[in-house]
Amino acid sequence: MLSVIVPTYNERDNAAALLQRTLDAFGQIPEPAELLIVDDDSPDGTAAAMEAEATARRAGDRVRVITRTTDKGLAKAVSAGFAAASGDVVAVMDADLSHPPELLPELLAAVRKGADVAIASRYVSGGGTEGWPLKRRIISRGACWMARPLTPIRDSTSGFFALRKEVLEGMEFVPRGYKIGLELFARLPQARVTEVPFVFRDRTHGVSKLGSAVILAYLVQLATLYRNRFPRLVGYLQFGLIGLLGMAVDSAMFALGYWYIGLKTLGPTLGGFFAQTLSFVIAARFNFALNRLWTFRERRRHARMSVFLAVSMIGFVLRSLLFEFIVSLPPPTNGGWWAALVHAVTIEQIALVLGVVTA
Ligand code: GDD
Repeated sequence: MLSVIVPTYNERDNAAALLQRTLDAFGQIPEPAELLIVDDDSPDGTAAAMEAEATARRAGDRVRVITRTTDKGLAKAVSAGFAAASGDVVAVMDADLSHPPELLPELLAAVRKGADVAIASRYVSGGGTEGWPLKRRIISRGACWMARPLTPIRDSTSGFFALRKEVLEGMEFVPRGYKIGLELFARLPQARVTEVPFVFRDRTHGVSKLGSAVILAYLVQLATLYRNRFPRLVGYLQFGLIGLLGMAVDSAMFALGYWYIGLKTLGPTLGGFFAQTLSFVIAARFNFALNRLWTFRERRRHARMSVFLAVSMIGFVLRSLLFEFIVSLPPPTNGGWWAALVHAVTIEQIALVLGVVTA
C-alpha cells in the first residue's frame, strides 16, 4: 500500500486540484493508496478545505487530514505523516502541484522494482525546472552541489520522493529544517536509490516559504550532516579555524599588552614578558572555551583544564623562545617584529590544539 504525505501550510487554493489530480493518479496504481494531509493549523482553513474536497469526491476513505497545533514545521509535519502512514511505501509531495501527482505511479513502480528510495529529480536527464528566476536556479543547484559529498544523489534537495518505510526503522532521523529528503538520503548511504526525472513547475496559487531563514536553516542542517558523516575531518577544520582565530586574538593581545601596557610601565624586556604571558593566557582560554563549545559540543567531553594548561605551557615556552630568537637575528633576516610574532603564535596555537586533544 502507498501512503502519500502532503505537508501543508496555507494551501487552501490548491486543495481542489491537489485532491483531484492525486486521486486520478491513485487510479493508475495497481494497489491501495491513501493521501495524508498534514496541516499545521493553517490560518487560511486548509484543513477544512481539504476535508470538504475529499467529501465532495466521496474519497473520505482514501484521504486523511491531520491537524497539528504544536511543534510546527515542515520536517516535523512530514515526520508525523510517516508515523501515521499505513502503507509499506510512503511518498512525500508538495501541495502546490509543483510536484506532479501523475508521477506517483512511476515512483511507486521504482520502489516495487527494488529501489529503497525513488526520488523525483530535476537534475537527471529529462528533468528540469520551469519558470524559475536565475537566482532560485543558482540557489537550488548550489544547495545540491554542497550536499554532493554526503550523497551521490543529483537532486538531493528534492522534496518529492517515495521510499520503502522499513528503511526508516532504527534510523537516527532528526526531523529538522526544510530539507527532510536530504536528512534522510544523507543517512542512507547504502540505500538503493533511483532518480526519476520530472519538471518542477512553479506554483500558481499561494507563496513559496523559501526565504533567507530557510537558506540559513539548510546551511545549519548541512553542517550537522557533515559533522555526523565526517567527524574527524570536520573536527580538524574546526581546530584549524579556532587556531586561526586564536592567532588573531593572541597577536592583538600581545600588541596591546606590549605597546600600551608593558613597554610603558615595565620597559622592553619585562614588558615583552608581560605581553607574552597576557596574550598566552587569553588565547589559551579562548581556544579551550571555543573548542569545548563548538568542536566537542555534541560529544559533551569533559576536558581537563589542568592537562590542557600543562601541554599548552610547552607551547608557551616554545613561543617565547622562538620570538626572542627571531627578533634577536639581525635584520633583514628576522623579517621584522610582526614576523616573529606570527611564527611564535603559530607554534603556540599548535600546542594549544594538542592541549585540547589530550585534555
Ligand atoms: N505542515 C507544514 N508546516 N507544511 C509546510 C510548512 C510548515 O511549516 N512549510 C511549508 N509547508 C508545506 C507547503 O504548504 C508545501 O506543501 C510544502 O511544504 C513545500 O513548501 P513550499 O513553500 O512550497 O516549498 P518551496 O517551493 O520553497 O520548496 C520547494 O522546492 C524544494 C526544492 O528546491 C519544495 O518542493 C521542497 O519540497 C523542495 O525541496
